[in-house]
Amino acid sequence: MDFYEGGSQNILKTTGKGAAPFQNQTKRGTETMAESMKGLHRTHRCAELSAANISEKVTIMGWVQKNRNKGGLVFVDVRDRSGIIQVVFEEGKCEAALIERAAGLRSEYVVAVVGTVEKRSGAVNSNIATGEIEVIPEQLRILSESETPPFPIEENSKTKEELRLKYRYLDLRRPDLQRNLMMRSQIATLTRQFLAEEGFLEIETPILGKTTPEGARDYLVPSRIHPGSFYGLPQSPQLYKQLLMCSGYDRYFQIAKCFRDEDLRADRQPEFTQIDMELSFVDVDDVIDVNERLLAKLFKEILNIDIPLPIPRMTWQEAMDRFGSDKPDVRFGMELVDVTETVKDSEFVVFKGAIENGGTVRGINAKGQGSMPRKKIDKLVSFAKDFGAKGLAYIAIQEDGTVKSSFAKFMTEEETNNLIQAMGGENGDLLLFAADKNKVVWDVLGNLRLELARQLELLDKSEYKFLWITEFPLLEWSEEQNRFTAMHHPFTMPMEEDWQYIDTDPGRVRAKAYDITLNGNEIGGGSIRIHQNDIQEKMFEVLGFTKEEAYKQFSFLLDAFKYGVPPHAGLAYGLDRLVMLMAKVDSIRDVMAFPKVKDASCLMTNAPSMADEKQLSELGLELAVQDEKQ
Ligand code: AMO
Ligand code: AMP
Repeated sequence: MDFYEGGSQNILKTTGKGAAPFQNQTKRGTETMAESMKGLHRTHRCAELSAANISEKVTIMGWVQKNRNKGGLVFVDVRDRSGIIQVVFEEGKCEAALIERAAGLRSEYVVAVVGTVEKRSGAVNSNIATGEIEVIPEQLRILSESETPPFPIEENSKTKEELRLKYRYLDLRRPDLQRNLMMRSQIATLTRQFLAEEGFLEIETPILGKTTPEGARDYLVPSRIHPGSFYGLPQSPQLYKQLLMCSGYDRYFQIAKCFRDEDLRADRQPEFTQIDMELSFVDVDDVIDVNERLLAKLFKEILNIDIPLPIPRMTWQEAMDRFGSDKPDVRFGMELVDVTETVKDSEFVVFKGAIENGGTVRGINAKGQGSMPRKKIDKLVSFAKDFGAKGLAYIAIQEDGTVKSSFAKFMTEEETNNLIQAMGGENGDLLLFAADKNKVVWDVLGNLRLELARQLELLDKSEYKFLWITEFPLLEWSEEQNRFTAMHHPFTMPMEEDWQYIDTDPGRVRAKAYDITLNGNEIGGGSIRIHQNDIQEKMFEVLGFTKEEAYKQFSFLLDAFKYGVPPHAGLAYGLDRLVMLMAKVDSIRDVMAFPKVKDASCLMTNAPSMADEKQLSELGLELAVQDEKQ
């Protein structure tokens, strides 16, 4: 028998005299049962109602946002994922018992209201979509009660994120998070639609598998059946999607969960989602074309923004030289200027030393910041030091043309003037210089440029500037490992014209790799893949793998390539990052339902947690460390 049968179905007729709140609820022992849905059918979401529904009888359901009791007149705001509608319990229009019942409602009770839509009798509320109308109820059903929540369910919450994440299911009721997750769903749906129309097949690849070489640490899952053996969670579906090309599927995509055990940041989670794709019989322009159209569709349909196509492209070298970053934010200028030539003969040891060590001297011009107080400049110097600078030299040109400089005393006046000229320095400008190995100079000035843009509020969140970065170096030197490593991954195709340098000058070889960036964020990346055995073998050799080692790790892919492999290429977006930018939020956590915090734990479930003895012994595992939490 249905628990709720009997009492609760009368609730719709709660019009009896003096009906106390909950009087019609089914009682089972001392427990109060919530009322049921029996006989009720929701007709609209709250904010789907509008003036067009005036005089209609409707049934809405949702959470009590707030309840204002003005004695004989009770206003109840009911909220669901669409928004809020005001329900007015008023003498003369509703039975007294109903009004009394409404007065007993508390925040986050779940209710159903049957009533009629009317034009607001009081002031119109232009802050909410349903501000012109209200519902005059004839029935109220309390579907469940709520304890007082640990924080108010409201937009732009001031509650600390830690507490909100502990009660994430409540946090997720907040309208801003609901909007983000709804946008995320819309992006996924449109992506599926678009890619299906373009002939892509959605194919799932394993989560329990062999790990893929994306360069982060793997998450491992112990096998019970093979004690001592581990599955690796995929850092991306890279190898599987290449195999699918070998199998002839031609165009694959997947909205794929990826796992990377790396340090978290505002735009990084250990578990995240890619829009992943791979295409056969294509070159760079084909991949770029389909992706530009995908991005244009998403931005048009979701944000009503027209992205001018084609999206500009910039080589990696140009991006580093001009912006000190391979994901430059091109919404503002303040570009890096190489002044090595201008200062190479000066006696300033900092500059001289860097140049003699094979480095460069570069600067940025913070226009109009010449009168920045010394303390603030000092903060910029320590900011630069955080990125590996040994110092930050500056010239502050005052409005009257006099110059304050941290190194003028080491240069002749003419040298200083030449330097100012090379930087396009004018009265009132602040020139900042870094001298070191290129890598350090780029990193320091690239980040300083962004920091200044933040401080000077040069970044407009409603502006979307896309940029492809192309021709990445194929390899980068790892000081730590004392060898070259793949900048993207070992299956990335070198540029044909550079392959001749692979033995003599491997660092010079560029890759057929491309990243798509948006406002200074890398939202996606991909490459043309190597499909020729000789090139692949050479790549492994340069990366310091013996043939045996390469086979041990990737035998299934290398074997597959023996049986007819089509030329292929692909790309993957960080879906979370894309949503973050489209929703204009600063944290990736605000676009994921259940994110993890900095130490990769989940504050709601307390994952990860200790396994019990039995589980460990079944897995053939013994712990060398004990959990500090215990
Ligand atoms: P890549 O490693 O560049 O390429 O990853 C693709 C995109 O995924 C996003 N991303 C992340 N997002 C959130 N948290 C993370 N920890 C994280 N790491 C990466 C970024 C990035 O641009 N298999 C290749 C793609 C290919 O070659 O086809 C790959 O995974 O937005
Ligand atoms: P010093 O002679 O050490 O006081 O340095 C003079 C100025 O050069 C100071 O403003 C330092 O911050 C700056 N400086 C030191 N090292 C570097 C560097 N590698 N690049 C740019 N400026 C530097």
